[in-house]
Amino acid sequence: MYYVSLIVFVTVTVLGKSVHATEKIPYTIERIPPIDERNDVGPEICRECIKESVSAINVLLNLILDEGIIGSCGDLCGALANKTSSKGLGDVCLVVCNVVGIGEFIRLLEHTDLDPIWYCQIADLCPINDHGDAKFVYFHMIPSTGRVGTEFIIDCSFTSKNGTGPGMLSITIVTPQNQSASNDFLLDAKKPGIYDQRIAVKTFDRECSSPTDSCNGFPTGTYNVTAYLCDGECGSHHPHSSIYDVGHTSFVVTP
Ligand SMILES: *[C@@H]1O[C@H](CO)[C@@H](O)[C@H](O)[C@H]1NC(C)=O
Ligand SMILES: *[C@@H]1O[C@H](CO)[C@@H](O)[C@H](O)[C@H]1NC(C)=O
Ligand SMILES: *[C@@H]1O[C@H](CO)[C@@H](O)[C@H](O)[C@H]1NC(C)=O
Ligand SMILES: *[C@@H]1O[C@H](CO)[C@@H](O)[C@H](O)[C@H]1NC(C)=O
Repeated sequence: MYYVSLIVFVTVTVLGKSVHATEKIPYTIERIPPIDERNDVGPEICRECIKESVSAINVLLNLILDEGIIGSCGDLCGALANKTSSKGLGDVCLVVCNVVGIGEFIRLLEHTDLDPIWYCQIADLCPINDHGDAKFVYFHMIPSTGRVGTEFIIDCSFTSKNGTGPGMLSITIVTPQNQSASNDFLLDAKKPGIYDQRIAVKTFDRECSSPTDSCNGFPTGTYNVTAYLCDGECGSHHPHSSIYDVGHTSFVVTP
């Protein structure tokens, strides 16, 4: 499954699992779902599209690379519909492919440069807000210091005057040994307002399988936390994508 790392990145992005993790990262990063998501703008169909397009983009790449299907939008998207037994996926593909053109569509796929949010915006299934904005009001850890095994919470809030497009909160945590792991969370488009986000960072319990084991080896010290709040996919250079704000904080793990 890891033969095309960027595809894996995108896949993982939307499912909210850890990515970019070197082995033995001593924590997990999980979103705590907000209680109230009623202010989201038309989230359902957009969220569905993003989720589905992640696998569609994978299948499309395989169709191009393995089966050499590159003739026309109809061929490629028809093959996608066949492969996935989903006419819907084929239809969305056809809209996007016709908008960007078959040549560009294939180029984007081959360069794993088709981010799912943008894909769904081209297909007109996700909203676009090019006058959106968002700024962190606060961004901190609770607690700021804790022993090995503590669940730390990234507690943050952002405010938006014009609302936001569908986007992403991307969290990177750097260990005292300078290893890093990231996790990305999809954010639905928002109306103007203030939004709280909470992300749980669970440091692993010590595992002392034998008394002489390396249970003292847990990396204690300062962990730096950086969050990007983005319109569209963080790091995307496509239209309707930008970084709204960046937050920094840290927490200390003690023995
Ligand atoms: C889809 O599958 C059908 C039936 O197997 C086949 O006739 C058709 O040519 C396929 N279409 C594409 C675009 O591959
Ligand atoms: C909000 O939108 C208006 C126009 O719709 C724009 O002039 C303004 O710059 C936007 N504000 C921010 C903070 O982006
Ligand atoms: C964490 O951030 C502090 C202050 O910005 C910096 O001095 C330190 O080098 C960073 N640690 C790592 C491992 O990057
Ligand atoms: C941490 O690692 C990054 C690359 O992953 C490197 O650019 C940076 O200089 C390193 N920082 C320290 C303090 O070693």
